[in-house]
Amino acid sequence: MHVISVISTKGGVGKTTIAANLGGFLADAGLRVLLLDLDVQPTLSSYYELSSRAPGGIYELLAFNEREMARLVSRTAIERLDIVLSNDGHQQLNTLLLHAPDGRLRLRHLLSIFKPHYDLLLIDTQGARSVLLEMAVLASELSVSPVTPETLAARELKRGTLQLIEDITPYRHLGIQPPPLHLLMNRVPAVSANARLIQQTLRLMFQEQAGVHILDSEVPAIEAFPRAATRGLPAHRVEYRRPSGRLTPAALEIMRGLATELCPQWHERLAAVTGTPGGLHHGKRP
Ligand SMILES: Nc1ncnc2c1ncn2[C@@H]1O[C@H](COP(=O)(O)OP(=O)(O)OP(=O)(O)O)[C@@H](O)[C@H]1O
Ligand SMILES: [Mg+2]
Repeated sequence: MHVISVISTKGGVGKTTIAANLGGFLADAGLRVLLLDLDVQPTLSSYYELSSRAPGGIYELLAFNEREMARLVSRTAIERLDIVLSNDGHQQLNTLLLHAPDGRLRLRHLLSIFKPHYDLLLIDTQGARSVLLEMAVLASELSVSPVTPETLAARELKRGTLQLIEDITPYRHLGIQPPPLHLLMNRVPAVSANARLIQQTLRLMFQEQAGVHILDSEVPAIEAFPRAATRGLPAHRVEYRRPSGRLTPAALEIMRGLATELCPQWHERLAAVTGTPGGLHHGKRP
């Protein structure tokens, strides 16, 4: 089981959008995907309609070490896409984990529950520094951090997200390496000289930074993402062809590019996704 967290200490950069759409795309590619909603605001938990709702969620997993899948895992209307719902409305988990001796390692130690059942675990997090966020990073093999093309975001990234990675490096002494951080440009305007310049600056700023990698894939600002969110669908099913007159690729190709760069081991399956609900080259398009 591959474990990817989507993180940023800045809010509103597109973490939930990336987690929901990457999960939806990989599930449509035939992979078994589990989403973990670690944000106290249950945005990811309400993105997809549920076909069955488990009695418990993140709280039972982390506070009670609940191990029974049926009590933890809800099913979404998307085949092969399951979710552990955010249900820490009173925000007790952070304090609880802060004082628990195994706090930041708890999720890492619980991963074995999910391992036999899923190909990918995708963790969405809150846009602020917290014990939960550090715990998510320490449980992942790879962290993706969306960055929007504003200088402010770049500065915040240096101060916030990179500092977080640095702060958890002492876990090396326990044999735990912080995962590589993959920066993903998100909401890139189709035509903007300024945005291009900021992107180049970002690349220059981080190219020398060990453990930080800037993804070749970029996610343009397209209306298909909010539209898909409103419909509770992954964007690649909503926009599988490039709208005429637009230069940026269709959401299907954007998500395929990103998924392939993050999970090259599955490239053949990813190449077969067509945007047909639940299907790989079969049935009619909606
Ligand atoms: N590439 C994109 N193109 C257009 N709209 C986008 C794109 N990415 C994200 N958005 C929109 O931006 C808004 C914020 O995105 P999202 O909720 O994913 O951010 P977030 O980082 O999860 O925020 P928070 O920190 O509050 O959890 C949403 O309305 C989403 O639809
Ligand atoms: Mg979010």
